[in-house]
Amino acid sequence: MSRWRALLLVVTLLVGAGAEGWAHLQWPEDEVRAIRAHGPWPPPAPVDPSNRVSGDPAAIALGERLFNDARLSGAGTMSCASCHQAERNWSDGRARARGRAGLDRRTPSLWNVGQGHWFGWDGAADSLWAQSLRPIIDPLEMAGSTGHVAALLRGDPTLGCFYRRAFGTAPGSDDEALLVDAAKALAAFQETLVSPRTAFDDFRDALVAGDLAAAARYPAAAQRGLKIFMGAGNCNACHFGPRFTNGEFGDVGIPFFVRPGEVDSGRLGGLAKLMASPFNRLGPYSDDKSGASALRTRHVQRLHANFGEFRVPGLRQLGDTGPYMHNGHLATLQDVVRHYSKVSPDRLHSDGVPLVRPLGLSADDQADLVAFLRSLAADPPPRPPPLTECGAG
Ligand code: HEC
Ligand code: HEC
Repeated sequence: MSRWRALLLVVTLLVGAGAEGWAHLQWPEDEVRAIRAHGPWPPPAPVDPSNRVSGDPAAIALGERLFNDARLSGAGTMSCASCHQAERNWSDGRARARGRAGLDRRTPSLWNVGQGHWFGWDGAADSLWAQSLRPIIDPLEMAGSTGHVAALLRGDPTLGCFYRRAFGTAPGSDDEALLVDAAKALAAFQETLVSPRTAFDDFRDALVAGDLAAAARYPAAAQRGLKIFMGAGNCNACHFGPRFTNGEFGDVGIPFFVRPGEVDSGRLGGLAKLMASPFNRLGPYSDDKSGASALRTRHVQRLHANFGEFRVPGLRQLGDTGPYMHNGHLATLQDVVRHYSKVSPDRLHSDGVPLVRPLGLSADDQADLVAFLRSLAADPPPRPPPLTECGAG
């Protein structure tokens, strides 16, 4: 056996642990494999076959303008950026969004949103463009209208110019088709929101490459937290892959009462909305004429077990951007870890083997898990200035 292979079988890292002195952490081959599955980062740029302008620079420019344009809303006072604020990790720091957006839910961050396949906490949309269209015309959010957005695209010379560059024709006379195009440009812009590389990514790459000196720079507390995350905590059963989400739904025991007598049924209600929507991938507005990208949508089933399930959020770039969960129920990462530590099994509906159970973590273990979660965040680089000029041609 080569020295190289012996090294991979058990990787022992000697890491400084501050006041605790030095800690030895061993990373057996199966754990290195599991860690490897949380990268590489950044992932390849997403391409959505249902959106013909996905990845197109002119569409991205148009989408960025629309994202910040309050004229999309009925009253002219609210833009996407009112709730999805760049400086707040594309969220707003509130437990519940302004108005009654999305049934009193928290505004999710938009980092890495282009990598998902279901959108909204309840998965009521199956594409980023369908999800982007909804708040514009929802009376509880921006309260705009189809005709109003179409008129804006036709009337504003700069928007019209970017539209022409992206879609190849001047804005046409079909209002609903124009609304969908605006949403597709919004989606193209949001696909560019990729969270930065983090201390965890450097660790993961170093471990995979067998560079122990580089791997040892990852703080011991985060390494211990990662062990809990993949081991006793079973967190990566759901928070899987490079974004730390499998993109699906689960119930982790967060209360679903919105107010006395009113519940948020989560995925169960989301599926009903998805199937009723004229803007889903099975409808006429998908640009994927092969239908291949509609496979998931075609096969969804509404099951009673979907009641109270919410989408598994990605865990990158959480930092201190609480509150957390679909309804902002938990204020800090410490609260989240404490929740998983003492969640009541009676509250969880589980079919078969429960993935979540009270972990009973010690205070030190909880602190380590928080240190690990924090290591999945870093300061994002400044965004490149948006394309503002659109040639007269
Ligand atoms: C009033 C605040 C508010 C405004 C304005 C708003 N959003 Fe949201 N956004 C939310 C909330 C709340 C949710 C969660 C909705 C749900 O679960 O049904 C959400 C969800 C999303 C999602 C899904 C993210 C995910 O991880 O699944 C996307 C994408 C999104 N919004 C884009 C937009 C775009 C584009 C606009 C502008 C056209 C916009 N939002 C305007 C509050 C807002
Ligand atoms: C059964 C799948 C599952 C398991 C196992 C699981 N989670 Fe989650 N996690 C979810 C779901 C679903 C949510 C959103 C729940 C909601 O909003 O009601 C969530 C939310 C979170 C959030 C909040 C993120 C945000 O943006 O609001 C954090 C942090 C988190 N989980 C960490 C963990 C940790 C740490 C573990 C292991 C101790 C873990 N999760 C285990 C499914 C799971």
